[in-house]
Amino acid sequence: MTVRIKPACRLTLCIFASCPPDMIRVTFSLLLLSLLSFVSIVTATPPARVTLCSTACPADSDTVGAAYFTTNEPSGNYLVSATIDNNGILAPFEAVYTEGTGAHGVRPDAIGPLDALFSQGSVGVSNTQKFVANVNAGSHTITVFAINGANPASLEMIGQPVSSGGEFPTSLVINEAGNRICAVNGGKVNGVSCYTFVPGIGLIPLENTIRSLNLNQTTPATGPANTPSQIYFSPDETQLIVSVKAGFLAVWDINPDGSLSNNFKTIPGGILPFSLLYVPGKNAIIASDPGVGYDIFDVDTNTTATFEIPGQTLTCWSVYSKESGNFYMVDVGVSTISEVHVTDTLSSSIVKQYTLGTDGPIDSAVASVDKQDFIISLAANATGLTVLHVNGPAAATIHQRLDLAALAEAANLPLHSSNLQGMATFIRK
Ligand SMILES: *[C@@H]1O[C@H](CO)[C@@H](O)[C@H](O)[C@H]1NC(C)=O
Ligand SMILES: *[C@@H]1O[C@H](CO)[C@@H](O)[C@H](O)[C@H]1NC(C)=O
Ligand SMILES: *[C@@H]1O[C@H](CO)[C@@H](O)[C@H](O)[C@H]1NC(C)=O
Repeated sequence: MTVRIKPACRLTLCIFASCPPDMIRVTFSLLLLSLLSFVSIVTATPPARVTLCSTACPADSDTVGAAYFTTNEPSGNYLVSATIDNNGILAPFEAVYTEGTGAHGVRPDAIGPLDALFSQGSVGVSNTQKFVANVNAGSHTITVFAINGANPASLEMIGQPVSSGGEFPTSLVINEAGNRICAVNGGKVNGVSCYTFVPGIGLIPLENTIRSLNLNQTTPATGPANTPSQIYFSPDETQLIVSVKAGFLAVWDINPDGSLSNNFKTIPGGILPFSLLYVPGKNAIIASDPGVGYDIFDVDTNTTATFEIPGQTLTCWSVYSKESGNFYMVDVGVSTISEVHVTDTLSSSIVKQYTLGTDGPIDSAVASVDKQDFIISLAANATGLTVLHVNGPAAATIHQRLDLAALAEAANLPLHSSNLQGMATFIRK
């Protein structure tokens, strides 16, 4: 059937095969055009790299290291790097596309929109193998980037993103040798999975390492309660530990071939155990705990002590400084960092508190430059970075504040305080 409306107008209705050949050509070209524009809308890939130092990038010779965090944006996750100079001063360098997407957890308690992943450790660094790894919570993948020896803020993706072995990955850990990574998933399909890192190739899944946490969860995760917080290796790398905000640590044994015990044991304690750090020289873990302040898990005796930080609301992150020998507990709710000293007998005290205005610090990491420690915090509420100079025990000072919002806007990089997550550092040896 051919319905000819006007012979002059070629765009008439006809069954394809019965149309005149030039009309088929026109129709075909139009189809192809619309198909192409549809494809380009759907697959509009974010730029691979966004420069953040367009006016003046620091010289390699002035750069001793770098700090890394993610935008964790659902439209495309970027790993952002900043150079660190020998005075511990940061300068944003670039943002590289992870070929993955970020995500934001669901918060029925409506405490606030910051801390999208309810986690510490969404970005990690291997000093030994010189790479950065990050989770992509929206695309359920992990990406690795090689760190450039001359400028550690300059990154190159290794291989392709790999599946996280579950849904909504939120934290990862890298072993000392830099040849093994494990990650924890906090979504509907939750639990851990491990990989071998091969230089130049990337991550290869390790057999018998996908293990469930058996949490009744959703994708994205609903939290912060009842979600995993951080994944960690014991110092001898024979145990894999995950803090769960349901009052326990989950502990798997790691077999010599890297596979994990089928089931995890639990170390109960705390209310909402969050970030994990071993107490140096002890088989004990100090965990921040937004339910109370912090907890100390004595792994040998399977006992836990809980400590209050008066006035705290959301003490979720922590770092350790060798320079001061103390722990720093980061509270986004009251924008405060509490410096905690732990004794040989695992008793502890708050030695000093630092208030950071309305910075709203979340993920943090220490950069040691010439034996001087700098605490670099992702100041989520201020959409920036806040750097503290440790200066020994109970003597930290605010060293630098950096705004990221204006910079990202000028560079056309999607970046929002509610999504920002992760912090890791690398210092050139
Ligand atoms: C999982 O959680 C949902 C929502 O809270 C609840 O309705 C459901 O009963 C839970 N399932 C199990 C097996 O506990
Ligand atoms: C620690 O003790 C609890 C009981 O309080 C027990 O359920 C758990 O299995 C113990 N964990 C280990 C690692 O022995
Ligand atoms: C976040 O910043 C806003 C102003 O930008 C401020 O009103 C609010 O109190 C801050 N929140 C925290 C937790 O510091």
